[in-house]
Amino acid sequence: MEQVCAVVLAAGDGKRMHSARPKVLCEVLFSPMICWIADSLAECGIEDVCAVLGAGADQVRAAVPHFSWVEQKQRLGTGHAVMQAKAFLQQHLGGNCVVLYGDAPFVDAATLRNAYEEHIRQKAAVTLITAVLEDPTGYGRVIRDGEAVAKIVEQADADERTLQVREINAGAYWFSVDFLLQALDRLQPNNAQGEYYLTDVIGIAAAEGLRVCGYQAKNPQVAMGANDRKGLLRLNELARQAQLAYHLEQGVEIVCADGVIIAPGVTIGQDTVLLPGTILKGKTTIGKHCVIGPNTVIEDSVIGDGCRINACQIEQSELEENVKIGPFTHVRPNSRLKAGVKIGNFVEVKNSVVGEKTAVAHLTYVGDSDVGKNVNFGCGTVTVNFDGHGKYRTVIGDGCFIGCNSNLIAPVTIGDDSYIAAGSTITDEVPADALAIARARQVVKPGWAKARRLRLGPRKK
Ligand code: UD1
Ligand code: CA
Repeated sequence: MEQVCAVVLAAGDGKRMHSARPKVLCEVLFSPMICWIADSLAECGIEDVCAVLGAGADQVRAAVPHFSWVEQKQRLGTGHAVMQAKAFLQQHLGGNCVVLYGDAPFVDAATLRNAYEEHIRQKAAVTLITAVLEDPTGYGRVIRDGEAVAKIVEQADADERTLQVREINAGAYWFSVDFLLQALDRLQPNNAQGEYYLTDVIGIAAAEGLRVCGYQAKNPQVAMGANDRKGLLRLNELARQAQLAYHLEQGVEIVCADGVIIAPGVTIGQDTVLLPGTILKGKTTIGKHCVIGPNTVIEDSVIGDGCRINACQIEQSELEENVKIGPFTHVRPNSRLKAGVKIGNFVEVKNSVVGEKTAVAHLTYVGDSDVGKNVNFGCGTVTVNFDGHGKYRTVIGDGCFIGCNSNLIAPVTIGDDSYIAAGSTITDEVPADALAIARARQVVKPGWAKARRLRLGPRKK
């Protein structure tokens, strides 16, 4: 594509969403709608993009920092929004521009490319992307004159007969920049909503006898937009089902899809089983022959082959092959669990490396630690990593045995193959092969309880 640019309309304030965020930041499969559009544009190689922003512009800019932008102070309609980008368009005279709506996230790169080819082939002033929907309610209807598009009529302005039309405006158009600039000057807000409609540009082109091409998308979903929470839920469900279908096709086993949500870009190996309530987000890669779930969230993580992850939360971490964790294990960012590690109930691991085949079976906190292989943690071990000011590391060698209910006060090093007696609070280095006991000796006072009972009577119930 030569000499192409894009304008993305994103000044909507989310009023119909009842959201404090700008509408285009409402998320579909955990990604803001405008980021879906940014991805499609990037896939097409369209780098010169101008976003039209309104309330919450700073938040939108943070989501798409590579877009240039203009402000639309008053929200007077889609045509008015494009008028704000005039200076940007003037830099692209002689070229073509795709205009997209920030609340219609499913326009994909292939559709944009195909529509562009049609636009160039037909030497069109405008090429409009359309779709035929089962239920076209709320969308602008495409009125054809034979092959060519004659105009678009908005839902609010449509008569009974027009409302029957099921071909709708997807809100994505290729324009010759020169034509768009001169047509914008002629828009009038003469309609039910008193707005400057971008869609009227179509009628202007047709009335002038210019070529207006309607490119009907093969997959009608590309046209779907969200104006309110119900619409957003519909988009999420469509995207979710599309992801499930894709992964089933790749050989992933899903016994029951309830609550299984897989974000775009996640990869999953063959014969891995996903159980209900599994949510996979961000840049996540899952190996083969794993069983994930039920009720598990994995974000920005790499999971090796043959892992079993039951009711866990994992963030920005790596699990090598055959790691078994859960139920109720929390793996926090920057952790690496090496092959064959076993971690059990109510264990939290943070910013730590845990060596091969080490077992941390229950009720333990491993934070800021480097743990060797074949270590056994007793129930209730705490690496005490924070003193209210700084964080310190705990280093545990290979083959250590950490007794139940021990505190390892960092910074501290436990040498290879050593033992920590249960109930110890370890403050000093333990050399290899040693036993460290750090607790008071037991005192037994024979008959003490009986004597007390005789003095004070039986204990109150
Ligand atoms: C619009 C189209 C309709 C199409 C539908 C597809 C018009 C007049 N109508 O209707 O034909 O079928 O999209 O989804 O274009 N925006 C601004 N500034 C404004 C107004 C809107 O930036 O002043 C942005 C919104 O943030 C939104 C997009 O433009 O991202 C579309 O606006 P919206 O009000 O949602 O238009 P629809 O009624 O959905
Ligand atoms: Ca809309």
